[in-house]
Amino acid sequence: MFLSQQAKIWAIVPSAGSGQRMRQSVPKQYLELQGRSVIENTLATLLEEKRIIQVTVCVAEGDQFWDKLDCRNDSRVSCTLGGATRANSVLNGIQALPQKAKKNDWVLVHDAARPCLSKDMLESFIDQLVDDQVGGILALPSNDTVKFSIDSDSQDKIEKTLDRKRVWYAQTPQMFRYGLLKQALEVAIENGTEITDEAFAIEQMGHAPRLINGEIRNIKITQIDDLEMAGLLMTQSNDDEHK
Ligand code: CTP
Ligand code: MG
Repeated sequence: MFLSQQAKIWAIVPSAGSGQRMRQSVPKQYLELQGRSVIENTLATLLEEKRIIQVTVCVAEGDQFWDKLDCRNDSRVSCTLGGATRANSVLNGIQALPQKAKKNDWVLVHDAARPCLSKDMLESFIDQLVDDQVGGILALPSNDTVKFSIDSDSQDKIEKTLDRKRVWYAQTPQMFRYGLLKQALEVAIENGTEITDEAFAIEQMGHAPRLINGEIRNIKITQIDDLEMAGLLMTQSNDDEHK
């Protein structure tokens, strides 16, 4: 009997941001966390997952830090140029995948700035999505009541209250079928739609990505306090492993 080939998983790590909100001279993915750079922590978790066959890191033009990292020599790690927005960076990563990548393969996108994702969470995320036709994202259900403001001015007033049971905070990883994600990003960029995650591009194509319950520790390093928090979270998990 002819067996259909299993879909491969290609990881893309957008790492071309300059970390404006961090206010440091070095982009946040290259700041130190637990004795190595933030991105090395992120890549170590992805590389522990053996179902990921390649990790493509998208770096900024003129990046002076990536070439100094040992992890770039890993046989499963490759690098390409990012773009002006996160969506452009991810699309560049997808376009740089080898010719043998198939329409039905998976593209797993994970922010360089999320170094605290646990290995178990990543494994479970992939397990839960692997039979899906479209894909989905890791997200956290809201514990707080969420207000929707009249406009985007921070001094604004409340227009309405969202149904808390339906509010989720999007994280990464986000994993979608290669053909669909490539097309969705191309269409969104072509139309000038401002997309802040892959799921939004997929939603615009009329699909409903799955929400996979994530973990609080998977924070995105955005401001300087987050780096300290990430250090605490990682120390705690190292301690737990050695108990
Ligand atoms: N990113 C990217 N290409 C861009 C912008 C962002 O690859 N043009 C990456 C960042 O490096 C990061 C991830 O997307 O790993 C999430 O973006 P964000 O947290 O917004 O990072 P920065 O854009 O670097 O930070 P800021 O918005 O504060 O400038
Ligand atoms: Mg940004």
